[in-house]
Amino acid sequence: MDAIRVRGGRKLAGDIQISGAKNAALPILCAVLLSEGPSLLRNVPGLRDIDTTAALLRFLGCEVVVDKEAHEVRVPSAKLSRVEAPYELVKQMRASVLVLGPLLARHGKAKVSLPGGCAIGARPIDQHLKGLEAMGAKIRLERGYVIAEGPGNGGRLHGADIAFDLPTVTGTENIMMAAALAKGRTTLWNCAREPEVEELGRVLNKMGARVDGAGTDVMHIDGVPELAPFDHAVIPDRIEAGTYLIAGAVVPGSDVRILGAVLEDMEALVLKLRQAGVQVEREGEGIRVRREGPLKPVHVTTAPHPGFPTDMQAQFLVLMTQATGESVMSETIFENRFMHVPELSRMGAQIEVRGRAAVVHGPTPLEGASVMATDLRASASLVIAGLMAEGETEVRRVYHLDRGYESMETRLRAVGADCERVKNAEG
Ligand code: EPU
Repeated sequence: MDAIRVRGGRKLAGDIQISGAKNAALPILCAVLLSEGPSLLRNVPGLRDIDTTAALLRFLGCEVVVDKEAHEVRVPSAKLSRVEAPYELVKQMRASVLVLGPLLARHGKAKVSLPGGCAIGARPIDQHLKGLEAMGAKIRLERGYVIAEGPGNGGRLHGADIAFDLPTVTGTENIMMAAALAKGRTTLWNCAREPEVEELGRVLNKMGARVDGAGTDVMHIDGVPELAPFDHAVIPDRIEAGTYLIAGAVVPGSDVRILGAVLEDMEALVLKLRQAGVQVEREGEGIRVRREGPLKPVHVTTAPHPGFPTDMQAQFLVLMTQATGESVMSETIFENRFMHVPELSRMGAQIEVRGRAAVVHGPTPLEGASVMATDLRASASLVIAGLMAEGETEVRRVYHLDRGYESMETRLRAVGADCERVKNAEG
């Protein structure tokens, strides 16, 4: 398994280009199942999760060409031979559950492995299933699989009024895709408002759907009998951009521009960075981040968009270790998302986890160590910690990182970091 080796303490300066958003590309790729193709998705990040989605679409019978150089995924045909998402693929990537809505809407049947718990929490999919049931689907759980059928043995779903108990990103996306081909109007309340949800609405409308309100908490979707294929370029990745904003803030004297980042999609993060004393401003086609003086402690609570993203929590916690005084990070979205804390503590951080909050006492110098993480954003946080730690840090099991960051080590090296990938390092 590969590792990333970082020697800390170098100031970062220069430009980092942001890729297309992983969490926008995944649902859009599943939306190819709503038409027969050919569809084309551009500005696709070169990530392992994209390869997993391509493998899943191929398993279902689609032709899929992933062109990493061009950052494109072409789906010449989406004629299906199966309606099943097997455990082997779903366990690699929970977002595979996003084929459930489209399969059921277009083919009246779907068999999708239950994702099960994961490193950051239990992550049930009850809201996805309740929504589909309200649209007439018959759902049963059998031997770890969700088996779903449209009304009357595989018929077309019908519109429904659905209020989510909590805003769920992929839940909202699954129901949007199902409703796009359902009979009649679906109204969704308490929707997730993430930019990636809004982006899916945009693509569905390009395909001929009638989605109104994507990106707000109430959506109306008037179903249409069929949808056309699409040609679309994915929005920039706000979580990748945020991760590099923090990387640009941890070493004093750094000055980095994040090109392609959309400030409006990252306001909660930018606000907290500014409160902590980091200079962040819009500049041309991107965002410039500078860190000069000491950092101030802040209190952060993760929340659904437009709140502070849970996907930025681990990275921000690293920054908190450098603030003078007591910072508090409260995690309200996932119940088990502090696994990076023991690893950061091994590097010298002083962090106490009290229930769903992490209390950070700073500033503490960090020392390089061999560390590893069990999820994607936690892995990114350890690389960031390595950037400012004294000596060498080896972040192991970077296959987590490769799920969500395209060649992070190359991008960081280009702005002056001393880091490299070590092939087949010890696990
Ligand atoms: N939840 C339920 N029931 C459901 C669905 C969700 O109780 O049916 C709960 C979850 O357990 C969690 C909360 O609702 O406590 C929010 O989960 P959500 O469904 O919004 O998460 P998700 O759709 O599974 C997406 C991202 C995650 C990101 C979360 C929260 C994708 C592919 N994944 O997951 O991204 O953390 O939203 O913003 O969009 C990542 O990229 O590293 C990542 C984990």
